[in-house]
Amino acid sequence: MAERIGVLGAGYVGLTSAACFARLGHQVTCVDTDASKVDSLRRGQVGIEEPGLPELVVAGLRAFALDFTTGVADLSGCGVVLLCLPTPPGANGSPDLGVLEAALPGLGAVLAPGAVVVTKSTVPVGTAERLPALLGRDDVTVVSNPEFLREGHAVHDFLNPDRVVLGAGPADSAAADRVAALYEPTGATVVHTDPASAELAKYASNAFLAVKASYANVLAELCETWGADVREVGRTMGVDPRIGPHFLSPGPGWGGSCLPKDTRALLHAAETAGVGFDLVRDAMRVNERQCARMVRLARRAATGTVDGSLAGVRIGLLGLAFKAGTGDLRDSPAVAVATELARRGAELTAHDPAVTSGVDGLQLVDDPYLVAKDAAALVLLTEWPEFRDLDWPRLAAACERPVVVDTRNLLDPTMLAQSGFTCFGLGTARDRS
Ligand code: UDX
Repeated sequence: MAERIGVLGAGYVGLTSAACFARLGHQVTCVDTDASKVDSLRRGQVGIEEPGLPELVVAGLRAFALDFTTGVADLSGCGVVLLCLPTPPGANGSPDLGVLEAALPGLGAVLAPGAVVVTKSTVPVGTAERLPALLGRDDVTVVSNPEFLREGHAVHDFLNPDRVVLGAGPADSAAADRVAALYEPTGATVVHTDPASAELAKYASNAFLAVKASYANVLAELCETWGADVREVGRTMGVDPRIGPHFLSPGPGWGGSCLPKDTRALLHAAETAGVGFDLVRDAMRVNERQCARMVRLARRAATGTVDGSLAGVRIGLLGLAFKAGTGDLRDSPAVAVATELARRGAELTAHDPAVTSGVDGLQLVDDPYLVAKDAAALVLLTEWPEFRDLDWPRLAAACERPVVVDTRNLLDPTMLAQSGFTCFGLGTARDRS
């Protein structure tokens, strides 16, 4: 059944949710306090780099199924309102709910009786329970519906979710069913649970992914020590359905706007509750050490020894974004490695297909071949597939030393050797030349 849906917040989650629900046949009004953003969106101009999102926004506008406004009063006719407001990390790692809590009284003043308020933002356990009071209403229902959208795949993940998680109280099953019906066209598995479990499931999922990625990074170190291949170990482990093949690839560390935020928040909340969460703390520590490990590898590749001076040494970087498919530099391990190399005096030239500005301490170029000019080493930090298709013999000829550190095990070592490169991977045979 088509619903009139309100969305509070036109950011990455809110805009994706609004455009996708319009695509699923609902009438959606999306509210944001940023008038210039609303004005751009009304013209179909989408500032967020998500494949398929601009097209969905334009289609929704054209079908009059989607509109944008700065006025929360425009949500008064909505039966369901999604809260998609930012909950950034506070100083001690716990989420800052200031933006959310500031918006609630205004929303509460206009909500229709019987409306369902859906929390999509990642919020501390217990937030859904507090919302009716914060809204100043006892005639609306709150349902927790955490999102599991990956950057670069947000539209795909919204329209093809592994699962839709709905947290509602025992008296609120009708409201939960009403929210479940919104997703019905996706054919997704709907997991009905209580609000606290739904809220915790979000943090628990992201922290588990972080633990898994850090586990892979330590496995890679062991593989280098013992002459095993981490790709083979991951492939073998992944056959076990209890483990699964995903998120076992070593890299320069895990980053982005979610995993670092959510691991810090969960650790802080657990310790505040008197429950130590050493597994998450250790995954964070492994992640912090990973940057230093990448710098050591780069020093060895560029100078021949792990403690060689990098002063004045030219290094070419391939990739700056925290992962392929996005230009997002937030908490990017690639940027952390670049910053540390620059701090040690290396002269850095970097190329990332999705990054055109915004990184201090390096020369950003739009031509990937320029990063090789007189370089003592290349360091691949983001797993852009197009890096595989570069002319590697041409890169080797441009380098002063044809050496590459492939922190994503993206490249074919045989191709690199044939191109004249000595290659250092993670968790694979050392010095794959
Ligand atoms: C993550 C969750 O996947 C998503 O469900 C949640 O809603 C938001 O946070 P995202 O932050 O977009 O999504 O990135 P993701 O694709 O999960 O990768 C996170 C980090 O882990 C990246 O830095 C990536 O490079 C790293 N990673 C991922 C690894 O180091 N190894 C892997 O095998 C997989």
